[in-house]
Amino acid sequence: ERHITVVPEIEMPGHALAALSAYPELACTEGPFEPATKWGVFDDVFCPKEETFTFLENVLDEVIQLFPSQYIHIGGDECPKTRWKECAHCQELIRKNNLKDEHGLQSYFIQRIEKYVNKKGRKIIGWDEILEGGLAPNAAVMSWTGIKGGVEAAKTGHFAVMTPGSYCYFDHYQGDPQSEPNAFGGFTPLDKVYSYDPVPSELNEKQAKYILGVQANLWTEYIEDFKHVQYMIFPRLMALSEVAWGTSDPKNYKEFENRVVQHFNILDQMSINYAKSIYNISGNVIPNTNGIAYELSTSQNPTGIRYTLEGSEPTFNSPVYQKPIPVSGSSAIKSAYFENGQLKSAI
Ligand code: ACM
Ligand code: ZN
Repeated sequence: ERHITVVPEIEMPGHALAALSAYPELACTEGPFEPATKWGVFDDVFCPKEETFTFLENVLDEVIQLFPSQYIHIGGDECPKTRWKECAHCQELIRKNNLKDEHGLQSYFIQRIEKYVNKKGRKIIGWDEILEGGLAPNAAVMSWTGIKGGVEAAKTGHFAVMTPGSYCYFDHYQGDPQSEPNAFGGFTPLDKVYSYDPVPSELNEKQAKYILGVQANLWTEYIEDFKHVQYMIFPRLMALSEVAWGTSDPKNYKEFENRVVQHFNILDQMSINYAKSIYNISGNVIPNTNGIAYELSTSQNPTGIRYTLEGSEPTFNSPVYQKPIPVSGSSAIKSAYFENGQLKSAI
């Protein structure tokens, strides 16, 4: 109906603290465990025992019935080896299977699940880390720590989805943190997303065919509600869509931005929340002849900047910014961007 395919992701062997809270017997140590309430990568992960595989296979059976996608995402990322190093069962498994170390155990884990998923007629896709121990020919990689994973996948004949953190993580800031809601960190403004080229230059034409496309990630540790989800996605998703379609032209970013602004009218009509960060004003302390001054700038028309000096909210009738504001003592400068008399930016 929507012309989309939903690819479900079931995380393993790491990022599984919620599952271990419900099924502590699947961990290396006794527990009990609590679902995480803060961001993090946690030491307690699935222990590769038979009952863990039985559990995960049962979960995958259900997931495969629910989702018709040819790929099933099995995670694979960020699995600390702390517990496996100390666990008698894990160490015995390493010995029995002639594995090199705990990283070999991670590969054993992934390959066992991969065989199961393949037996059900589906293929696995997983984060960079699934490359570690070699992959079945039909496995695909989601390249997130950079582009290395995608390059390696494509060069070895595996499909890859490119989603490097510095271009595709929409939990990052898209403007000056002073004017933005709380975010994970990073800085990935609209023009940066638009500038992304998903086909690494080191791939030849044949290898480049293995780049399936791009993906935006919006992890929600710092997201409070759905309006905030929309804010982080829009308008960056428009930029990544053009990247995916192959119609983006970073040299002509301004032309794209003009089209984005037209789309804001549509988003307004659909009551979809979106970031107005492209309008936001930046402030900078600069030296001037008598000391220091505060400089305001915008990527938009500079005559749209209004400001106040006594802490009140700027309106369209506040002074128009013309030149850096001399600062001789403590003061509060508030500014905003206006167009056709309307407030467009954050204050
Ligand atoms: C990831 O961000 N850990 C895939
Ligand atoms: Zn263990």
